[in-house]
Amino acid sequence: MDIKENRKNHDEKTIFYSTAKRLLTVVQSLSTARDLVTIMDIVRHAVRDLTGSDGATFVLRDDDHCWYAEEDAISPLWKGRRFPINVCISGWVMLNREPAIIADIYEDSRIPIDAYRETFVKSLVTVPIKTTNPIGAIGCYWKDRHITSYDEINILQILADTAAISMDNINYQNNIAAQALQLEKAMDDTLLAIAKMVEQKDLYTSGHQQRVANIGRAIGEEIGLEKACCDMIYRAGVVHDIGKIGIPSELLSKPAELSAEEFNLIKTHSEAGYQILKNINLLIPIANIILQHHERLDGSGYPMGIGGDEILFEAQILSVADVFESMTSHRPYRPALGREAALEELITNKGKLYSPTIVDALVHLVVDKGLRFQD
Ligand SMILES: [Fe+2]
Repeated sequence: MDIKENRKNHDEKTIFYSTAKRLLTVVQSLSTARDLVTIMDIVRHAVRDLTGSDGATFVLRDDDHCWYAEEDAISPLWKGRRFPINVCISGWVMLNREPAIIADIYEDSRIPIDAYRETFVKSLVTVPIKTTNPIGAIGCYWKDRHITSYDEINILQILADTAAISMDNINYQNNIAAQALQLEKAMDDTLLAIAKMVEQKDLYTSGHQQRVANIGRAIGEEIGLEKACCDMIYRAGVVHDIGKIGIPSELLSKPAELSAEEFNLIKTHSEAGYQILKNINLLIPIANIILQHHERLDGSGYPMGIGGDEILFEAQILSVADVFESMTSHRPYRPALGREAALEELITNKGKLYSPTIVDALVHLVVDKGLRFQD
């Protein structure tokens, strides 16, 4: 082998490895793409970069039309336009499930020449996205006559196949996300229905649960908890007194102070609420928060008398929201005590009964931000 041939081999190997490396990077980027716009963006640049062509198009099938959704070219092609699938080369590729390789578009009867006359295109290659049931096509264009190599077609088909997998992944993720949303909506509707049940029985609970839920979520957001955690506090708030459904209405609306025995009966509502919800898998975290919403930091609460970090933080938030809302609302046995009295109770017992972080967050919301917490 002479020096010239050696040099040629070396150059070819270098080009091969740099193309393979670039292709691998593109495949990696496509595998992490989370939306169609990103996929199209990656593909249109990669096509030109890897083939050295003068233009690239990303075409999607839209029923019996081809939609030229994206392009990257030395001068405009057909971005945004739709052509009937049976008069368009991308359509031919999709209908025949095979690439179209055309060295001279003016000599190929499949080309709708009027659509090309204004463009720079002389040669093209188009490959289907998904060969079994094409959902689109990737086009590659040259301004001068170009004889497409086997490697170029391979590269385009790899890009198209990877784009197809990414598009499938996105559809799959979107479906899962839509199902999760539906499930959440069903859960919220169920919780609201449950809340209405207990509110039918106890007029004074009506609105109270919703307001506690709003206050609880606002505190969670103020502290900077994650959205999922704030949503959980809100949902627990909406039904936190559900256990009162088992307590006689006369007792719930008694216009006088309760006896110790009566109060003990009322105190069973947090455990009763837990028992109602604990067997619904999705609601177990909410059931636990409800169980603990009358526990206090120093262990003086009920039903278990746990304290400090033993109490779920979400339950600690709900208890502060509950105390604040209860004191600022009318009760059968007393008028509303007002915001100042409620804040004083919380501040006085900060660190003893209630978490200082939570009380500070509520005080900041009410005093500094002027939140009024309506229904
Ligand atoms: Fe309660």
